Amino acid sequence: MRKKIVAGNWKMHLNKKEAINLNEAVSNNIPQNNVEVYQFVPSVYLDMLQERSTIKIGAQNGYPEDAGAFTGEVSMLQIKNIGIQSILIGHSERRHKFGEDEQFLKEKLDAALYHQLEPFFCCGETLQDREQKNHFETVHEQLHASCFHLGAEAMRSVIIAYEPVWAIGTGETATPEQANEMHEFIRSVIAKRYDQTTADAISVIYGGSCKPENASSLFQQQHIDGGLIGGASLKSKDFLEIIQSF
Ligand code: 13P
Repeated sequence: MRKKIVAGNWKMHLNKKEAINLNEAVSNNIPQNNVEVYQFVPSVYLDMLQERSTIKIGAQNGYPEDAGAFTGEVSMLQIKNIGIQSILIGHSERRHKFGEDEQFLKEKLDAALYHQLEPFFCCGETLQDREQKNHFETVHEQLHASCFHLGAEAMRSVIIAYEPVWAIGTGETATPEQANEMHEFIRSVIAKRYDQTTADAISVIYGGSCKPENASSLFQQQHIDGGLIGGASLKSKDFLEIIQSF
């Protein structure tokens, strides 16, 4: 069901004490504004934070096989087993730095849904795609290749995070109009593949240099249902201000 979401992606940051402090600072000061708040944390902190957090804790990654000889990996089954409910799939850093392709992301999405983990499926174009005016086609292809095999009911449990690669960690943000235009496009291709009810039920959130100064103008847009926040999620004050700006 479509909901308002502000999710922090901590990436590979923070020591144990900092992780606890940040989780507490956010958990204890959540505004009552119907926004669902998540922290996607490094896997070493998942179990610990899951046990103590009053806000949702999500995994940044998970392997699609349940068990086996996959040294260094953590399976989605193991993640689910410790009580985690949500997972990021298709983040541009996984696509570009770890070579995760669309077929593998499709397998991950299927495994997440099989284990009833709520997937945040990330998509977004590179600067080159945008400069060549291929951004709509790129995002459509990402959705088509990894998501559109799903039935409508499964698709409705996916949250889409549009994260233009050129805006991630660069300080450069898509304008509210650019982001809204892409979110509207994403909804239109979902409506075409499925139906309007499905498209309207899916939350589409924006990520890429979202911060307190620009959050409210992004969140005011009709098709933007929230944010996936990197850098600004590492400071409780900034993250809380972003939640508050809804
Ligand atoms: P920044 O907010 O640091 O640009 O990161 C965005 C992101 O990648 C969230 O997943």
